Amino acid sequence: MRLKIIGTGSYLPEKIATNDHMAQLVETNDEWISTRTGIKQRHLVSSPEENTTYMAIQAAKKALADSGLQAEDIDVILVATVSSDYVTPSTACMVQKELGASHAVSFDINAACAGFLFGLNTVDAYFRCGVYQTALIIGVETLSKIVDWSDRSTCVLFGDGAGAVIAKADESGMIACLQGSDGTHAEVLSCKARSNNNPYISTDKNLDYVFMNGQEVFKFAVRKVPECLNLLLEQANLTLEDVDYYLLHQANYRILTSIAKKLHLPMDKFPSNVDRCGNTSAASIPILLDELNHKGVLKEGSILFLSGFGAGLTWGAALLKW
Ligand code: ACO
Repeated sequence: MRLKIIGTGSYLPEKIATNDHMAQLVETNDEWISTRTGIKQRHLVSSPEENTTYMAIQAAKKALADSGLQAEDIDVILVATVSSDYVTPSTACMVQKELGASHAVSFDINAACAGFLFGLNTVDAYFRCGVYQTALIIGVETLSKIVDWSDRSTCVLFGDGAGAVIAKADESGMIACLQGSDGTHAEVLSCKARSNNNPYISTDKNLDYVFMNGQEVFKFAVRKVPECLNLLLEQANLTLEDVDYYLLHQANYRILTSIAKKLHLPMDKFPSNVDRCGNTSAASIPILLDELNHKGVLKEGSILFLSGFGAGLTWGAALLKW
């Protein structure tokens, strides 16, 4: 049995910050942000209650309703995030509690922008082994709490939001998938956790924020995504022409156009919402999936290529039949 998506949901905060809003915070402008990234606006949480847990729960409730399953039917809940509200318990356990998914085993995955793909692949492996039959997989981020709002090179890139899918074990769905990581390039994109302040260690208590070597990330993404695609197409005995849509992590529109160019594919094969949502890390692919699902773009039998890439470095990809 393989993973089949049977429901989607998403949540975006109501508050929208445009590029002009960014220009009031740091020395930047709409022209710079738009031409370098394609981003026009991003959604940001705007109250302490509207946090990672809250957004994950809202997206999960919508996905559950869309699937027709009940919370008690869920066997496993995986939440991909790097911006949980708690060090422990996991966001997945908080979602489980709120939904009343009493039978589910619940845990978080920390694989940054590849996190949702790591979630899909993990669940697919469970389904293949027959361990579980149903799953809730969520990608959620409140990146606005880990970016430095005085650093123009990063704060303009990110947004907050959540996307969720319900999956069940089925005869068709996942065609092929892969995931990988390379810790030797951990310094390219990072954000430190809080420092130790035990009686034997004296540390400065400065908070740490997202650090990124943008050009290295750009090169990594443009190299890695086509590499993953070719591996999966070969494994599945399919060609580029068989794929209806390429749903890539929405980091930045220039990365998408560079990948499309490298593959000699038109941009209408690469749906995107980065202009409206910015980069929402682990949430970007499930938010996009939900938009396309509810717009009716995805038809039964559509072949999708999904690919996430990010800090770690990490990458994940999947060929899916809708
Ligand atoms: N507004 C105006 N100027 C800016 C801004 C800004 N928001 N940010 C940086 N600049 C300036 C820099 O200070 C620099 O000025 P200088 O030449 O006087 O020193 C100049 O613009 C060029 O800076 P670079 O960092 O070289 O800009 P670059 O052309 O590389 O574009 C960008 C930066 C958009 C981040 C690019 O590297 C990129 O697309 N990288 C991909 C990484 C990415 O999208 N990461 C998202 C998160 S990671 C992930 O999701 C996997």
